[in-house]
Amino acid sequence: MKALILVGGYGSRLLPLTYSIPKPLVDFANKPILQHQVLLNLSSIPSLFYFHRLDIKDCFHNLSRLRHVGVTEIVLAINYRPEAMYNFLKDSEDNLGVRITCSQETEPLGTAGPLALARDKLVDGSGEPFFVLNCDIISEYHFAELIRFHKSHVGEATIMVTKVDEPSKYGVVIMEEGTGRVERFVEKPKTFVGDKINAGIYLLDPSVLDRVQLKPTSVEKENSPDRLAAAGEHVVGNVLVHETASIGDGCLIGPDVVVGPGCVVEDGVRLSRCTLLRGARVKKHACVSSGGTRASASGRASRNVTVLGEGVHVCDEVYSNGGLVEPRREIRSNIPNPKVVK
Ligand code: GTP
Repeated sequence: MKALILVGGYGSRLLPLTYSIPKPLVDFANKPILQHQVLLNLSSIPSLFYFHRLDIKDCFHNLSRLRHVGVTEIVLAINYRPEAMYNFLKDSEDNLGVRITCSQETEPLGTAGPLALARDKLVDGSGEPFFVLNCDIISEYHFAELIRFHKSHVGEATIMVTKVDEPSKYGVVIMEEGTGRVERFVEKPKTFVGDKINAGIYLLDPSVLDRVQLKPTSVEKENSPDRLAAAGEHVVGNVLVHETASIGDGCLIGPDVVVGPGCVVEDGVRLSRCTLLRGARVKKHACVSSGGTRASASGRASRNVTVLGEGVHVCDEVYSNGGLVEPRREIRSNIPNPKVVK
């Protein structure tokens, strides 16, 4: 099994310390943060437990850390001050008994982009899930339990959450009660929506890597079952957005909207009670309600159900009320009443 540790953050909350030292290498209790993490997560050296003032139960947890659940290779996702990180590696790899490799970014790729960059290092054909860890967390959680849980559900990703007193400072994870299925992420909520936050520990199936794009993006965005819900106030009721769809700024979406793979919804669009099938594009400030389309629309589709066939183009300022439009037509004038357009 493999693990990727995200060590590329600028650590702005630790400034000015992080002007000269990358956050993972800042000393915490006389050792770099990363060293605590790698050692505590991989090693069974009992003396380290004292540092955490762990009781017997916690020791049992630590003994069952990553190494013991089969992690043999760590990929460090590096963005910032790589030379300092390489020196750390040189000193540490032999002692740790795991293979450590680096994946070097040329621009900050966030928390998900590094997965795309390290794809070849993470996929080994075994189909086994891999861990992703933030570099600045030291967890006492039983990783074997995490693997068991991951294998017990049908999802491709498991995220560890932790309860906090002040959720308004963090990205809150909203889950279905009973199953724990993630419904959405709400970044720094202004009103109370839950108190479980992303703990920065994930277990992901390799299939996730097929979708993560090589661009600056976050794990939450790339794995959200309903990406738009994170936008909160711009989503109303049931809305399902495919992870490869893109949604512009200032859109109001819902209720009862499905946005399919590869769809592009430009800025300021209003969508309600409609389905955008694979590849549809809705242009700036268009309004679609009661319809389904694989078309590019810049006017309005409304009231009676409009169905636009593949490759149909609706021109600016034009509306369709109940038009059933055959593929590859251009709609230049309004369709005021239901009719078939051949
Ligand atoms: P702050 O700036 O103080 O928020 O700290 P940070 O830069 O570490 O950001 P944050 O705590 O949100 O990062 C979460 C994890 O992702 C940490 O382990 C970071 O090192 C890591 N990380 C953040 N941005 C990047 C990036 O662009 N590339 C890589 N490889 N890791 C990143």
